[in-house]
Amino acid sequence: MKELSLHILDIMENSVSGGATRIEVNIYVNEVDNLLIIQVTDNGRGMDSETMTHVTDPFFTTRSTRKIGMGISLFKQQAEQTGGAFNIKSEPGKGSEVEASFGLNNIDRQPLGDVAGVIVNIAASYSDIDFVLNIDTTEGNFQFSSHEVSKILEGLPLNKPEVMLWLKELIQTNMTDLKMTN
Ligand SMILES: Nc1ncnc2c1ncn2[C@@H]1O[C@H](COP(=O)(O)OP(=O)(O)O)[C@@H](O)[C@H]1O
Ligand SMILES: [Mg+2]
Repeated sequence: MKELSLHILDIMENSVSGGATRIEVNIYVNEVDNLLIIQVTDNGRGMDSETMTHVTDPFFTTRSTRKIGMGISLFKQQAEQTGGAFNIKSEPGKGSEVEASFGLNNIDRQPLGDVAGVIVNIAASYSDIDFVLNIDTTEGNFQFSSHEVSKILEGLPLNKPEVMLWLKELIQTNMTDLKMTN
């Protein structure tokens, strides 16, 4: 994976598999502190302590469909490669929180990539789940909630191509206004 947005997608897919009804992606950027933090929290079924001890091992998975489970370990590796850190917290029955920090200007840091596209696509695929994106930079902050948008659209489905395009542009414009670096 060459872009952090694809790691975010992978982590959100874990939350979807974990039965979450609300998935929140928080992105914090601070140039002065040379810091990028990506946090994904969900209210899904969480992980027991046995799963938690193996979750950052490459090839660990509890899935039976596809025999590979590198999502979390690759994301951790990407963070650590930039001098950052990785942390995962989970409570069975309550939810999980995955947090990765990156050296913003580190030459090994992958670009963020198409965060807006990834959020809009997954929100359009799972309309029962509320996907929330929080962007926080030194310029200010922006919040997007797929369920709030659905309410405003009064039943117009998010997976219509023109709606998806509009939402993607809305998120991108806000990210640009907040001087979000890629
Ligand atoms: N948000 C989550 N909620 C519940 N379980 C999770 C979550 N994230 C990861 N897991 C558990 O950790 C395992 C490893 O995740 P991952 O490294 O992404 O590999 P994979 O998704 O291919 O199994 C999953 O199979 C699942 O059991
Ligand atoms: Mg995964």
